[in-house]
Amino acid sequence: MVTLTNKRVLLGVSGGIAAYKSADLVRRLRDAGAEVRVVMTRSATEFITPLTMQAVSGHPVYQELLDTDAEAGMGHIDLARWSDLVLVAPASANFIARLTQGRADDLLSAVCLATAAPVAVAPAMNQQMWSNAATQENLATLRKRGVHVFGPGEGSQACGDIGLGRMFEPTQLVELATELFKSRGLDGLTVVVTAGPTWEAIDPVRAITNKSSGKMGYAVAVAAIEAGANVILIAGPTALPDPERVTAIHVTSAQEMYDTVHAHIGAADIFIGVAAVADYRVAAPQSNKIKKNAERMTLELIRNPDILESVAKLARRPFTVGFAAETDDVVANARAKLEKKNLDLIAANRVGLPGSGFESDENQLTLIERERVIELPAGNKRTLARALIHHIAEAIHAGHRIKNPRQAHR
Ligand code: PMT
Repeated sequence: MVTLTNKRVLLGVSGGIAAYKSADLVRRLRDAGAEVRVVMTRSATEFITPLTMQAVSGHPVYQELLDTDAEAGMGHIDLARWSDLVLVAPASANFIARLTQGRADDLLSAVCLATAAPVAVAPAMNQQMWSNAATQENLATLRKRGVHVFGPGEGSQACGDIGLGRMFEPTQLVELATELFKSRGLDGLTVVVTAGPTWEAIDPVRAITNKSSGKMGYAVAVAAIEAGANVILIAGPTALPDPERVTAIHVTSAQEMYDTVHAHIGAADIFIGVAAVADYRVAAPQSNKIKKNAERMTLELIRNPDILESVAKLARRPFTVGFAAETDDVVANARAKLEKKNLDLIAANRVGLPGSGFESDENQLTLIERERVIELPAGNKRTLARALIHHIAEAIHAGHRIKNPRQAHR
């Protein structure tokens, strides 16, 4: 069962009597594994206190758009990028109207406008307000824009009316939120992902390595699991815990990563090389720690095998996706790698800038195929990984691959 483990849910609370259920919703989202942050509109605070929401979420509650302290900490753009899902519950008729207009005059509406993550609303209002043509047209517009509408339910209302307009119960909302992360686009397929750096020993305590944290590769593995794939994650040394339901294999050097990839690639439908693999290794690593006797020392380096290129050359190759870490001419350099290594797709990221590339929680990705270039909106690595996996699933289902021998054998 897919849960909300490792998912970051930003719960928006707008003004309505159903806000009293939002505290229970936070608890249930957290029970399902989500990390929850809360944004409240001013009118929401008339129904439930920020202190209650802070106590149940374990984090300060965000309320103001133009608050210098808040913006210096986690401002609207940071909150928008932090989120894997923005869930507004309750969503009042007024909030739904403001969302439809694309307003950004309070923190919650600004976050909804600025996020690349999915947005869901759980309407809660009087049944007459619900059935009003203005509300229904607003919801139709939001649905067309991809906003998810959870509910409402039917029954007796706080105002004494009976009808549609009750906010869904927290358990229902958690179930629907969980469903959003099941894309099923890779159902039954096997995906091999490499992640993290490699470690090329110089002696028992020193090595040539790089700053890859593994965050991007692990996010890709999780997104592939969410899409229904069996995932084998082959990771160099990182400090990250193994994602749930992923078969994680830990390696150290590029040669070990190469051997492990080739031991599993026969089963793979898709290969995604996210690892920052060292291009060279030390020709003769020392078995004892090198003493600092000499003023100078020279290390002889020899080329490591290119794992990605070797996979793309297989007679029965999987759909093969590379990553390119570039500091300049990102698209041109990545395209050169796509062609040289004969890949189906390459995801280029700019490195060397804050908020992108190595170590950061966020990234900027451009997907490059032979025929087209797709710029993904900057966001957190988990959201970008989902967008990448969604793109790969679409490409596979549309039969977009340069060579497709494995498919022919299926
Ligand atoms: O781990 P994070 O901190 O989250 O950072 C993510 C990242 C910046 C490392 C990641 O997004 C990324 O860009 N990974 C690829 C980095 C890289 O080494 O790019 P490259 O241009 O050197 O290699 C191009 C491709 O060939 C990559 O898919 C790489 O995995 C592959 N390669 C390279 C050399 C080699 N010997 N074998 C390979 O398979």
